[in-house]
Amino acid sequence: MQHPDPHSHYDSSQPKARRLRLKLRVDFNARRIDGEVVLEFGGMMSGPLDLDTKGLEIRSVQVPGHGPIRWELGPVDPILGQRLRLEVPEGTQEVAVAYGTAPDAMALQWLSPEQTEGKAAPFLFSQCQQIHARTMVPCQDTPLVRIAYTAEVNVPEGLTAVMSAGPTGQEALGNGRHVFRFLMPQPIPSYLLALAVGRLEARDLSPRARVWAEPETVAAAAWEFAGVEEMILKAEGLFGPYPWDRYDMLVLPPSFPYGGMENPRMTFLTPTLLAGDRSLVDVVAHELAHSWTGNLVTNASMEHFWLNEGFTVWAERRILRILHGDDAAALGWAMGQKALEDSLDQFKSEPQLTVLRMHLEGIDPDDAFSSIPYEKGARLVAALEREVGEERFLRFLRDYMDAFRFTSITTEQFCSFVGTKLPGALEAVNAKAYLDQPGMPDTAPEFRSVQLDTLTVLAESWPDGGRPSARQIAAWKPTELLVYLQKLPRRLTPADCAWLDEHFQLMGRGNYEILVEWLTLAANADYEPAFPRIREVLLRVGRMKYLRPLYGALGQHGRTRALAREIFAAASPGYHGLSRRVVQGVLDKNPA
Ligand code: BES
Ligand code: ZN
Repeated sequence: MQHPDPHSHYDSSQPKARRLRLKLRVDFNARRIDGEVVLEFGGMMSGPLDLDTKGLEIRSVQVPGHGPIRWELGPVDPILGQRLRLEVPEGTQEVAVAYGTAPDAMALQWLSPEQTEGKAAPFLFSQCQQIHARTMVPCQDTPLVRIAYTAEVNVPEGLTAVMSAGPTGQEALGNGRHVFRFLMPQPIPSYLLALAVGRLEARDLSPRARVWAEPETVAAAAWEFAGVEEMILKAEGLFGPYPWDRYDMLVLPPSFPYGGMENPRMTFLTPTLLAGDRSLVDVVAHELAHSWTGNLVTNASMEHFWLNEGFTVWAERRILRILHGDDAAALGWAMGQKALEDSLDQFKSEPQLTVLRMHLEGIDPDDAFSSIPYEKGARLVAALEREVGEERFLRFLRDYMDAFRFTSITTEQFCSFVGTKLPGALEAVNAKAYLDQPGMPDTAPEFRSVQLDTLTVLAESWPDGGRPSARQIAAWKPTELLVYLQKLPRRLTPADCAWLDEHFQLMGRGNYEILVEWLTLAANADYEPAFPRIREVLLRVGRMKYLRPLYGALGQHGRTRALAREIFAAASPGYHGLSRRVVQGVLDKNPA
């Protein structure tokens, strides 16, 4: 028995599935997917086969041509779920499992029509990262196993299904149901399985990119993301040809718990990116960059998550630098620095979660999530780049992509590759300090620019009466304002808040990064005029990045603590299970 991934029952002495054939029937009334999955092994196998499941009702297990076979579900583990052990007879090439999902399957959020923009039809979306694919499909739910897949998705007539795959056809069944077919020919880790079903429309942005959204938002989405082809071209300049054929995007309803999710061929995005001024497209640059860093070269388990996210943050800022210049990239790094400091603070009593090479046995990867793998990881990548020079580093990256394409690797594999290609570089940047020691090494690269220094000095002078001039207020771009707000002292007075709102019109902002930063400051200051807007945001949006600081700030004062509880009671039925868990955790830290 060998379990190389602490978050999976996958046994590396057993064969790996190579391909899945999925049939999914989406039942909105029962909030259930009735599924059949055929796991193909690409050769003969026999003996025990262990799969991951969580909350699934297993109905039958068959070997085609042989009939039903023996299976057994193991005990329930609150993090891992249940092992499904199959006894596979001699000569088996594939096994078929029929099953149903649980109504509270963590991978799935079922939305009522009222929770959508159009209010006309229900909506379903999946979110499998980190380890939720097992609540949607029984599988070897570890990135160590990569699978191609085909799928047939049966949905109510009038709704459209999209997946992390290419469409291969669709047909009306004539009984009020419609079938959509998909093919993902390249091998992907299970966490990149993805499905969404709803009232959807698409707009082409380039010959290989389109955006999907509800009809009510699709025009705004097409405008916001019109620059995506240019981003793809810049990313190709860094990493080589785009490996996944199409780059399509889906804008989800506002309860989507993340900013973006890099599902291959179909990035999922929060509608909070639709700021109306293209100021939040860095999230698209990030998800696009995952097409190489993450989806092509993948972390072997969540203990090596920094290989996915650290590289991708670095790549995102590199793309932004090419598109918008050094100053814009420096502001990106400054926002990252703030997120990093917040996370280091959040984990100050759990320093073992601030290293890059994590030890997560017995720990829910969603609980270990923070900006540390992102920002500490990106700083290690940047340090290596500075050490060897940009050109040599880019050549190294190309070699890295070639050597590990369509594989899942550990930190050790990464280090030994760097050791061969860039001898001495790991030692020169003190990589061990990033990988295995808590906190930040003091040799970490800094990113400065005149503009950033100006914003910092001005924000830090707030307690001494320093205020931005009318000219600055008029000239700042959204990211400059955001960095300024982030650098203000956390404890403002209600009068300070009134000044800020009057001069920057913060309450009415459509850029959620600015709006939430402002509302967080306001909540910290117990600034009553902001309460209605806070309520509105928390009732509409389920993105965890916004819920965490807002509910956290509301925990600072008696009446805002009461407000937080009242809002949560009203909002939580509309939140994703992941978001609900995170907010509950924040509220528990600040008892009433
Ligand atoms: N892959 C992540 C989202 C994720 C991480 C989902 C861990 C589940 C578990 C995605 O690429 C991401 O990092 N999104 C960020 C955006 C970004 C610009 C840092 C987000 O959602 O905020
Ligand atoms: Zn990411």
